[in-house]
Amino acid sequence: MAERARVAILISGRGSNMEALIRAAQSPCYPALIAMVLSNRPEAPGLDIAESLGVATVRLDHTSFADKRAFEDALDRQCRTRGIDVIACAGFMRLMSAEFVEGWRGRMVNIHPSLLPNYPGLNTHERALADGVRIHGCTVHFVSADVDRGPIIAQAAVPVHADDTAELLAHRVLAQEHCLYPMTLDWLASGKTKLDQDRVIYDFEPEREPAPLMVPRAAKR
Ligand code: GRF
Repeated sequence: MAERARVAILISGRGSNMEALIRAAQSPCYPALIAMVLSNRPEAPGLDIAESLGVATVRLDHTSFADKRAFEDALDRQCRTRGIDVIACAGFMRLMSAEFVEGWRGRMVNIHPSLLPNYPGLNTHERALADGVRIHGCTVHFVSADVDRGPIIAQAAVPVHADDTAELLAHRVLAQEHCLYPMTLDWLASGKTKLDQDRVIYDFEPEREPAPLMVPRAAKR
């Protein structure tokens, strides 16, 4: 990869993970720069945040394309003309075709609000509470054609409390997402992590780097 990997963040809404990535990349030591934030929803609140932080934004309304293929071609073109090395999905609510995913294999990542492979899909916090699990969390993984099933790079765990609501749990998990995603993008952009076939390879100096599993000692309620 180039000196600093060029990253496109894909969003559909609020953009709090996007903001965490942009703020991390404001440090000159960070190995990635955020070259573009692209949303498939033109009214996504995250776009205003990105613009206020000086990041170029692109509105690519998926409903204005004839079909999925045309939308993905436009997305691919946006990324390639801007010299994007890595695509980071952050609350991007479009399922991508196997062809698109293959074209960005090993260079497209996503953050998911559960400890995958548990609770792929939506409403993860409600489902975790309904099952009565005591540990929940979030996952950053490479994107594969199987939704929420790509190779796992890193996870952060939080406790589930007896009196939790889905909102409280979501809040606790989101705080970890905002640490986990910048850390993982750092690994990827600096070449410390990569995809080899279907396995994630780590090239760490163990005494100097955090482990791929973060268990916060005192996750706040
Ligand atoms: C996050 O919980 C993320 O894990 C999931 O969608 C949510 C997006 O939130 N993929 P935000 O837009 O980053 O605030």
